[in-house]
Amino acid sequence: MTNDIDRILYTEEQIYKRVKELAQEINDFFGNSPIVAVFVLKGSAFFASDLIRWLEMDVTMEFMSVSSYGLESVSSGKLSIKKDIDTDVAGKNVLIIEDIIDTGITLTTLKKLFQSRGAKTVKVVTMLSKPSRRLVEFEADFTGFEVPDAFVVGYGLDYADRYRNLPYIAALKRSVYEK
Ligand code: PRP
Repeated sequence: MTNDIDRILYTEEQIYKRVKELAQEINDFFGNSPIVAVFVLKGSAFFASDLIRWLEMDVTMEFMSVSSYGLESVSSGKLSIKKDIDTDVAGKNVLIIEDIIDTGITLTTLKKLFQSRGAKTVKVVTMLSKPSRRLVEFEADFTGFEVPDAFVVGYGLDYADRYRNLPYIAALKRSVYEK
């Protein structure tokens, strides 16, 4: 698996430090107000688990699995929900936790969905953002790192469902995905 790695972008130590910093920003923002933390599966599993253990308010863990219909999702607001959360978010603070924002389509649509369900606030934290790939303007409220337009894997991020279990974030060799 490691033979397929071109270069490490963020080491375990860098990730650990940045996740703690992000948690501090989120603690400062929400204070003691309880939040519903929405893990967007599968990619955010490690990041979300690491992040929420540093949060100081009451946190409800919820899991969601979605896929978008491309740009059509943004205009129609439609999202394919493969697994929905178990709780009613009306009047609550929602924190959507993502591993990466690429085109911005998933998060634009997901944020609208929680707003339409009556959430009091909807904030987004992402470990990574790839601004060069945006098709719709979208800015997370809290961002770990901005990454270049490389194929990024590890710490939950996959290529064909592989490499998620790498403890660091790395760029994949071109030869692997251009095969
Ligand atoms: C990734 C990521 C976001 C979405 C971002 O999920 O976790 O949900 O893509 O892309 P966008 O900004 O272009 O909409 P993916 O569909 O790869 O599923 P996974 O997390 O299960 O790997």
